[in-house]
Amino acid sequence: MLLHDESPAAVEEREKAFILGTYARTTFHPRSGKGARITDADGREYWDLLGGIAVNALGHRHPRLVKALRDESNALLHLSNLYYHPSQGLLAERLVRASGLCRAFFCNSGTEANEAALKFARLANPGRAGVVALNESFHGRTLGSLSMTGHEAYRKPFEPLMPGVTFVEPNDVAALEAAVDETTSAIFLEPVMGEGGIIPLTHEFLAAARRVADRTGAILVFDEIQCGLGRTGTLFAFQQSGIVPDIITLAKPLGGGLPLGAVITGPAIEGLVKPGHHGTTFGGNPVACRLGLAVLDEIEESKLLERVNTLGAWFGTQLAKLKKRNASIVEVRGSGFMWGIELDGPAKPVVAELLAKGFVVGSARENVIRLLPPYVTPKKAFAEFVEALEQILGKLERKVA
Ligand SMILES: Cc1ncc(COP(=O)(O)O)c(C=O)c1O
Repeated sequence: MLLHDESPAAVEEREKAFILGTYARTTFHPRSGKGARITDADGREYWDLLGGIAVNALGHRHPRLVKALRDESNALLHLSNLYYHPSQGLLAERLVRASGLCRAFFCNSGTEANEAALKFARLANPGRAGVVALNESFHGRTLGSLSMTGHEAYRKPFEPLMPGVTFVEPNDVAALEAAVDETTSAIFLEPVMGEGGIIPLTHEFLAAARRVADRTGAILVFDEIQCGLGRTGTLFAFQQSGIVPDIITLAKPLGGGLPLGAVITGPAIEGLVKPGHHGTTFGGNPVACRLGLAVLDEIEESKLLERVNTLGAWFGTQLAKLKKRNASIVEVRGSGFMWGIELDGPAKPVVAELLAKGFVVGSARENVIRLLPPYVTPKKAFAEFVEALEQILGKLERKVA
């Protein structure tokens, strides 16, 4: 049976009967993709400006990824972490050299990377249970990561959670300084907050975090799961501030579409992690690591960071001009290929209208349109998006008037 031949109605019906209701899925049935284009079950084409929520940095069906997948799966699909395999070490070396930190640990997802970071911080600070995180942050759905996620609605149904987490307002230096003390094990920050609505943390705030971490011995963790690996124009988002964390967590685009997360540790963690302290059956799978190497090779060889910088800056200017012409846009935030467009009302209906016009975009919070396009997205996709959004917002304004 060719799964792609299933009708959308049959796919939906089966899911409703057999899949747990964790997702409120959009009625959209993508079946194939190429570059920044997606084709649905009816053969209709769309610009993919969400990239599988920041995963598809190289777009869909990139020849380099397809080749790496074929080559490695012809050798080994899975190995476990009991034995040596070249691709894990090669990927670790690339990430370590590019970040200037010391070592990498591989897992399967963002939330697992943050769980591991929490544990490594405990090894650096035995007996210290405190964690300082930000309101509106998002670090994942497992209990540790959820405990430091600054959205009440995500946490509430699962309380009591991990104790000892203090939340402060993003970019409030005084609040951060007051919250961190000698009982703090780790400070978790996203240099650009994704689920929170694309909120860049100021260099001043990141510098303050480094300062209080140094003063108290708290481990400074930058969660770059959404904003890292080129999304904001440098391979790591922290490189724009020059503030170096003790730990970086990565996932999303790292495995080129396969599940792969990483924790990159700096000098503060050196010598602390011993065999048996942590582990995973699947993490650092040979195929996923091979894809990770292909992602890094392609970013480098095709100069995708330059592309993200130049085109991202141009797009930002277009969005700023659009805001001037449209009262319903409250604020435009972001850089590179990571943008949030805050509206004066709910984003979901606008996201639905954009989909109807052929643009796959996301939302964050109630009122932010979120864009995380592949790094290969052409300029005309951005230009067409601005035009489509302007038409939709124009209609909305007329409705309000
Ligand atoms: C900043 C950040 N951290 C952690 C996560 C969790 O990653 P995962 O869904 O792979 O567990 C996400 C996912 O959206 C994220 O954006």
